[in-house]
Amino acid sequence: MCSYRTITIERHFIDQQALHPDATGELTRLMHQLAFAAKQITKEVRSAGLSDILGVAGHTNIQGEAVQKLDEISNDVIYRAMDHAGVLCCMASEEREHMIPIPAEFHYGKYTLAFDPLDGSSNIDANINVGAIFSIHRRVSPDNTPGTVEDLLQTGRKQVAAGYIVYGSSTMLVYSTGHGVNGFTLDPSIGEFLLSHPEMRIPEHGKYFSINMGNYHYWSEGVRKYIDHVTTPSHEHGTPYSSRYIGSMIADVHRTLLYGGIFMYPLDFKDPAKPKGKLRLLYEAAPMSMIIEQAGGHSTDGHQSILDVVPKGLHDRVPLFVGARRNVAELLEFLRKYD
Ligand code: AHG
Ligand code: MN
Ligand code: MN
Repeated sequence: MCSYRTITIERHFIDQQALHPDATGELTRLMHQLAFAAKQITKEVRSAGLSDILGVAGHTNIQGEAVQKLDEISNDVIYRAMDHAGVLCCMASEEREHMIPIPAEFHYGKYTLAFDPLDGSSNIDANINVGAIFSIHRRVSPDNTPGTVEDLLQTGRKQVAAGYIVYGSSTMLVYSTGHGVNGFTLDPSIGEFLLSHPEMRIPEHGKYFSINMGNYHYWSEGVRKYIDHVTTPSHEHGTPYSSRYIGSMIADVHRTLLYGGIFMYPLDFKDPAKPKGKLRLLYEAAPMSMIIEQAGGHSTDGHQSILDVVPKGLHDRVPLFVGARRNVAELLEFLRKYD
């Protein structure tokens, strides 16, 4: 992308705030603190192979998964960037079972933050892209009081802002406040995020599908028939689609945003009486779906937009299908016909 105007993320936040004359600057401050946390975590991720912070910390998180040290470091960096900033009334993290309160000595702000401090963390040892995902809501309980779980349990549609930071060959921060999607790349030499991907749009259609094929026999008939369709040469789409799956949702969805196609993590019917999704609604599916929808794509749980799924608990899981508009429409035809 070629531009002779260099726009830092700070300047972009200020320009965005100017579009809203009634803005108090709280959201700008919140985003500023997240960008600050992203720089600190970049430093940790970049030195992961050099210091003794690889491997499992020795216990499991509330989802029963091995917690690696970098998850905890990332969790703490984000928490410490936010707790005293005066912009949040409470937080939720993948790494904490319960709501995270704001300590009483600090000001209670009007927003909530739900986050996955490190997505794809099982890939760290292999030097594969990982990232953080964030979702921000306006609180529903009275201002200047401690936040409640109800403040966090809101639909994706009500997100005030959402986005992710991907630590890949470079660090990128991609976010939306409901007016399109902008992407910033960290210039490590000056420590600034620079606008590199203004007004991102997902292609209408792409020839990539992204799913863990090892689960094929546990999916519904509709999903299986769709996968059979895109892997079989046909009149409509010619050669089969290409498969891309790295096992880091953040990287798989980021690629889908750039190149089109579809990312899927369907229900698993291993136990037909208790089908279950894997990805978490509040801090994985909803924020990534907001980004994709704001970029012109679609998201669905098979019935409705992910953005309309009502959360009941902080760690609810949902089936997720997200991507280019025509790819998601194509999938839905199969789900409607066979499921
Ligand atoms: P996390 O590292 O935050 O626990 O999330 C891992 C998720 C997601 O990143 C990825 O898409 C998915 O798990 C991969 O799951 P499978 O190994 O079942 O394909
Ligand atoms: Mn995750
Ligand atoms: Mn995680």
